[in-house]
Amino acid sequence: MSCPSKSDDLVFFVNGRKVVERNADPEVTLLTFLRKNWILCLTGTKYACGRGGCGACTVMVSKHDPVSAKIRHFSMTACLVPICSLYGAAVTTVEGIGSINTRLHPVQERIAKSHGTQCGFCTPGMVMSMYTLLRNHLQPSEEQLMEALGGNLCRCTGYRPILTSGRTFCVESTGCQKKGTGKCCLDLGGNDSSSLSRESDICTDLFVEEEFQPLDPTQELIFPPELLRMAKNPETQTLAFHGERVTWISPGTLKDLLELKAKHPEAPLILGNTSLGRAMKSQGHFHPILLSPARISELSMVFKTSDGLTIGAGCSLAQVKDILAEQVSQLPEEKTQTYRALLKHLKSLAGQQIRNMASLGGHIISRHRYSDLNPILAVGNAILNLISEEGTRQIPLNDHFLAGLASADLKPEEILESVYIPHSQKWEFVSAFRQAQCQQNALADVNAGMRVILKEGTDTIKELSLSYGGVGETTISAHKSCQQLIGRPWNELMLEGACRLLLEEVSLPGCAPGGRVEFKRTLVVSFFFKFYLEVLQELKKLMKLDSHHYPEISDRFLSALEDFPITGPRGVQRYQSVDSHQSLQDPVGRPIMHLSGLKHATGEAVFCDDIPMVDRELFMVLVTSTRAHAKIISIDLSEALELPGVVDVITAEDIPGTNGAEDDKLLAVDEVLCVGQIICAVVAETDVQAKSAIEKIKITYEDLEPIIFTINDAIKHNSFLCPEKKLEQGNIEEAFEKVDQIVEGEVHVGGQEHFYMETQRVLVIPKAEDKELDIYVSTQDPAHVQKTVSSTLNVPINRITCHVKRVGGGFGGKIGRPAVFGAIAAVGAIKTGHPIRLVLDREDDMLITGGRHPLFGKYKVGFMNNGRIKALDIECFINGGCTLDDSEQVTEFLILKLENAYKIRNLRFRGRACMTNLPSNTAFRGFGFPQGTLITESCITAVAAKCGLLPEEIREKNMYKTIDKTIYKQAFSPETLLRCWNECLDKSSFHSRRMQVEEFNKKNYWKKKGIAIIPMKFSVGFAATSYHQAAALVHIYTDGSVLVTHGGNELGQGIHTKMLQVASHELKLPMSYMHVCETSTATVPNTIATAASIGSDVNGKAVQNACQILLKRLEPIIKKNPGGTWEDWIEAAFEQRISLSATGYFRGYKAYMDWEKGEGDPFPYYVYGAACSEVEIDCLTGAHKKIRTDIVMDACCSLNPAIDIGQVEGSFIQGMGLYTTEELRYSPEGVLYSRGPDEYKIPTITDVPEEFNVSLLPSSQTPLTIYSSKGLGESGMFLGSSVFFAITDAVAAACRERDIVEDFIVKSPATPEQVRMACADRFTEMYPPLYFPPSVLATALPLPADPLLTALSPEGLQSPASGQSCSEGQGQEPALLHREERLLWADLGLEGHLYPSPTAVVTCPPRDSEALQAKRQKTAARSSGYSRRAEFSSEPSGSPNLPRGAVHDPSQPAPQSKVAPLRTSLSELYQPQWERRSA
Ligand SMILES: Cc1cc2nc3c(=O)[nH]c(=O)nc-3n(C[C@H](O)[C@H](O)[C@H](O)COP(=O)(O)OP(=O)(O)OC[C@H]3O[C@@H](n4cnc5c(N)ncnc54)[C@H](O)[C@@H]3O)c2cc1C
Ligand code: FES
Ligand code: FES
Repeated sequence: MSCPSKSDDLVFFVNGRKVVERNADPEVTLLTFLRKNWILCLTGTKYACGRGGCGACTVMVSKHDPVSAKIRHFSMTACLVPICSLYGAAVTTVEGIGSINTRLHPVQERIAKSHGTQCGFCTPGMVMSMYTLLRNHLQPSEEQLMEALGGNLCRCTGYRPILTSGRTFCVESTGCQKKGTGKCCLDLGGNDSSSLSRESDICTDLFVEEEFQPLDPTQELIFPPELLRMAKNPETQTLAFHGERVTWISPGTLKDLLELKAKHPEAPLILGNTSLGRAMKSQGHFHPILLSPARISELSMVFKTSDGLTIGAGCSLAQVKDILAEQVSQLPEEKTQTYRALLKHLKSLAGQQIRNMASLGGHIISRHRYSDLNPILAVGNAILNLISEEGTRQIPLNDHFLAGLASADLKPEEILESVYIPHSQKWEFVSAFRQAQCQQNALADVNAGMRVILKEGTDTIKELSLSYGGVGETTISAHKSCQQLIGRPWNELMLEGACRLLLEEVSLPGCAPGGRVEFKRTLVVSFFFKFYLEVLQELKKLMKLDSHHYPEISDRFLSALEDFPITGPRGVQRYQSVDSHQSLQDPVGRPIMHLSGLKHATGEAVFCDDIPMVDRELFMVLVTSTRAHAKIISIDLSEALELPGVVDVITAEDIPGTNGAEDDKLLAVDEVLCVGQIICAVVAETDVQAKSAIEKIKITYEDLEPIIFTINDAIKHNSFLCPEKKLEQGNIEEAFEKVDQIVEGEVHVGGQEHFYMETQRVLVIPKAEDKELDIYVSTQDPAHVQKTVSSTLNVPINRITCHVKRVGGGFGGKIGRPAVFGAIAAVGAIKTGHPIRLVLDREDDMLITGGRHPLFGKYKVGFMNNGRIKALDIECFINGGCTLDDSEQVTEFLILKLENAYKIRNLRFRGRACMTNLPSNTAFRGFGFPQGTLITESCITAVAAKCGLLPEEIREKNMYKTIDKTIYKQAFSPETLLRCWNECLDKSSFHSRRMQVEEFNKKNYWKKKGIAIIPMKFSVGFAATSYHQAAALVHIYTDGSVLVTHGGNELGQGIHTKMLQVASHELKLPMSYMHVCETSTATVPNTIATAASIGSDVNGKAVQNACQILLKRLEPIIKKNPGGTWEDWIEAAFEQRISLSATGYFRGYKAYMDWEKGEGDPFPYYVYGAACSEVEIDCLTGAHKKIRTDIVMDACCSLNPAIDIGQVEGSFIQGMGLYTTEELRYSPEGVLYSRGPDEYKIPTITDVPEEFNVSLLPSSQTPLTIYSSKGLGESGMFLGSSVFFAITDAVAAACRERDIVEDFIVKSPATPEQVRMACADRFTEMYPPLYFPPSVLATALPLPADPLLTALSPEGLQSPASGQSCSEGQGQEPALLHREERLLWADLGLEGHLYPSPTAVVTCPPRDSEALQAKRQKTAARSSGYSRRAEFSSEPSGSPNLPRGAVHDPSQPAPQSKVAPLRTSLSELYQPQWERRSA
């Protein structure tokens, strides 16, 4: 079979339009094609990650399925779809389903009108996921809706409104937003009847569902008849598409495919491209020939036989899910055990788009170590049917295949045709387990497939298979352990032996891939314990087991069996309705839809990179340092400059003006201070050429000392960015002497990545005259970009114009950095004379730009036994990275805001910003408050623990109660704070739920609930008057239309919408007359960054001022013609030569802070709030479920309740991410490892609390602000900590029950790893040494005597499963990851702890007497047998990077066993301790 030498025509359809690509390049993805093809120019489909992990690029692909002869519609992520795979397919993008100019699709209309868009960057992807769902299911279920949206990330909204819009299409939807709770919205939570009457002016509807267009399927695009004809008469000839470097061959028959495979054995088969594509992109894998079996129907066949199911390797995972679901519904349960287990994982594996694309064959052959299906297929005895020109053969999908052993693998010329999965039988049990950072769309840390067959009618093990993913380089089978357990009865003794054996066999070296070693070890046995219980349950049903040997599993322990369900959030949003006398046309106070909402939803909203390619445009890519601290010895650009398409490389020498600041250079000169620092920039004709060129630039370095990454190292080296900031009041030393008790503790808060969906981007267009430049940039601060470009180019500011149409999310990350990118691109533009486009990849954006400062804080708190805090001393350090950036202000804000809502007479707060060799950290929503105040709230829980009181009692006791002064002597009234607190207690029914939580905890051992309520006093604004000024420019045109411009930037927070509401109110003119076009430095100069929650506030005042000026000018005309129309008045004004343009100005709130005196009036006002969250944790896996959150926020008189509630919800969910899942991980060389949505987990739709209620506090007033409204942009972030403290509360309950001594080290985020290791039990304490002689083992396992142990061969004991030392046989990744862990933890201040102490997560406040505490300490010390803390306290000499116990050099004496002596049988694992004690 020879491949055609000429490229065939690639034929497919986009939005009903035929596309014929004559020279299709296999390396071009659909995303690039849609966005960059100059005829299509479909920029509605967005780039946000390029890895299939965020869903921003979701489109619908429709194909004719030859097997079912039906048209199938799939959602897919266009960034992973090669265009060549689309032969004969129809692509529908967001532009294809509706538009503002023609007809909106109901999905587009509803997401916008339900306020499901903020910045709008994720919206097209959300729309297309929902649209595809509706094309397949006209009335989907809620479960299907959640599934459809599981692969789409949104960083702004908090998902609730998006889901609300989707729910309007669901079967169950009746139009009532409160449906499903069983109660009327107004009854939820509060003291029902009274709150109803009190709240008669409270609204709970943010949109009018009756206005929505019905869904009319007849209006949808049809599948193109031409494609249908092509599909029905398929061509069998081979198609070939030759690109510059890669050839795509698509044979039409199986025979041709096999022939081609024999001819090109190295060529991979390309199906979903979800594995191959990512490896080609991020790991540089290159394949000159790709074989596409997409047209081979044999690979999509499904055969059902009496003993099993054969599924074609080409079936997508979504199809596999449907096939299995059908089997499960048709066959008896005993036959479908393996299918059920696979189905369970198929629900959470990736997002719907990836499941639609990824094939079963690709999944199996990729053999990823995290594969969710391979462990189950392996234990389920799946058989792989292979085919080649030579014929067919079968191989088992077993551990040898998974390990890639040549003898058990495919031959190069073979392909996988199908997979046979046998039915299970009676007495056979199969289960699947997985634990990931999030419930959905996250790769598993550990997963497992487990299967046992018992001898018929008995509990004796006949066959046992256990397979684990995530613990080694590949899926690992615990074959030896399983063999040893055959013949054993399914009882506790077996469980105990099995755990020991498993830990020995599935042992993870300290350098295991992905790190988290201790956690993973624990999961290995925890999963087996769950399996043990599951089978036991089933056994009890099958046969009457002897109750002496098989005591009933108490209800308390059955909770171990239940997984948390995926449920869509419900909730109520309450706000005060406008006064009934307010004019209907006056929009102030009404839930007006985001001005760009509909454009977001149709893809017509133009973001920076959506601006079409301009004439002679070039692309820029940045070259960054790979060293953390080094001298640059040389830079060799020669090879790069010779590459085709490369125009130039911009270095510091090309800068005509100033190269940034002395200690913060735009382009590095001589020295680099962190990995990711920008050294130079390649300019080329295309982005692909520019990216290839950076590989060719040779930079030599000489490492410099010291290299500092951690806060502790910075403290040791006295490496700080600015002087200490300190505030003090009262006499702290004296107070400590007088208190009843003192407690000291530590708080570690990890950093946070902004993860705005739109990465940093800029387009610089040089003009022909006078050195003028137009800059289109995604920034919160265009004036700063303008100023920086001016000084870099050495031209006056007036030549530079910055334009900001809208920003796809900022969160503080687009205040300082865009100026750097703008300036470098401007240098490129001036040097080459071409327009320059610079769009950062997600990886580069995360590597270069820094984020929220990690914090390490120490506290000492003195208090009376009744919980009254008398003295608090907090010292904290933030990791500022290598340059100052905003670190000094962040430190100041942190210190100013540390007291939160509490009045403590004697206080001392100190803070410093550490200088380290990491990328500079910068502004992030909340600006230090979310990190710092976690220390204060942790003090509260520590005090509560010591006093034996509830944290909420301590909070209430110490809260400000009357008009008072803060630590910096600013007067304020806490009345609204107390109202928020009380309303939140009331609305959440806190006290009764606290009791229910305690009841639940008494009844459940493996699941625990926790509840917490947190108050908040958040100061808004900058601590400087000049930062509060704002200006606006309002023009009225002769047709009466009004153009409003102002200094704020649209980041998604709805500032333009609010500004038009203000203008409409002031001019008494409907909003339909008004327009905002962009923010530009040419219309409103010298603006302040849109930040610190005051954007709408101060710009609103400026717009108000401009409108009032105009109205005043119009007054005589209106008076003269009161019955006239607006148009009449404007015409008359024009005739009378009255200026119809006015500048409005707001001088700003007075704000100052005198740090010398420690006093000032730094903030114009405070926002108060309170949040109550309830969670449930799984003590065996560390997973948690958010059950309910109630937020009461003081918005005063909200300008726009829909927008404000959106800000509260969105920031709360972002805060929840900070405190629970978002974890930055670095290599030991200071390279950020978490550089995309796979490794860095922001909350997904499944993370939203099941019940999520937000109330804006009614009837509060602030005279200062525009119409008495308040800025709510940032404050909700901290309220996310209520989830953290609820988890803390649940962990504390588990710890109390387990008699674990309290520990006052708090670590955020509370990841599953942290939670699991904090809920210490025998599983967490089963440490297998990697090497120990049998004698050690014998002493380590004194009870009960297990015949198995004597059967273990010394050989088996001596080598871990992999048989590798940490440095042997492994690629770079494992060692890298291991040391990353070390750095991460060290960075959080845990110096000396190679891994986090398992008990170090959260405080565990026992609410009881000292005597009991002492007793507990004794018990804990005795029961654990050794100090867990000591285990990790120091690095073993000679092996600085490995945790003790994980290093083993067979030539050295064996280390001491760390196996915790088992003093009790494992049956006690699921017997309550109190029961044991009483026995
Ligand atoms: C965002 C994202 C999230 C993910 N999350 C998860 C997750 O949570 N859990 C999980 O388990 N996995 C996850 N994955 C991995 C995913 O399951 C695999 O990438 C996918 O199954 C591979 O299938 P594919 O068709 O795309 O393979 P491709 O990328 O097309 O091919 C992969 C390899 O398989 C070979 N191959 C394919 N078919 C055959 C055949 N018939 N015969 C011989 N060789 C063949 C190819 O030659 C190639 O080498 C995720 C992937 C992404 C992109
Ligand atoms: S850009 Fe394609 S999934 Fe993120
Ligand atoms: S609206 Fe979803 S990312 Fe901004």
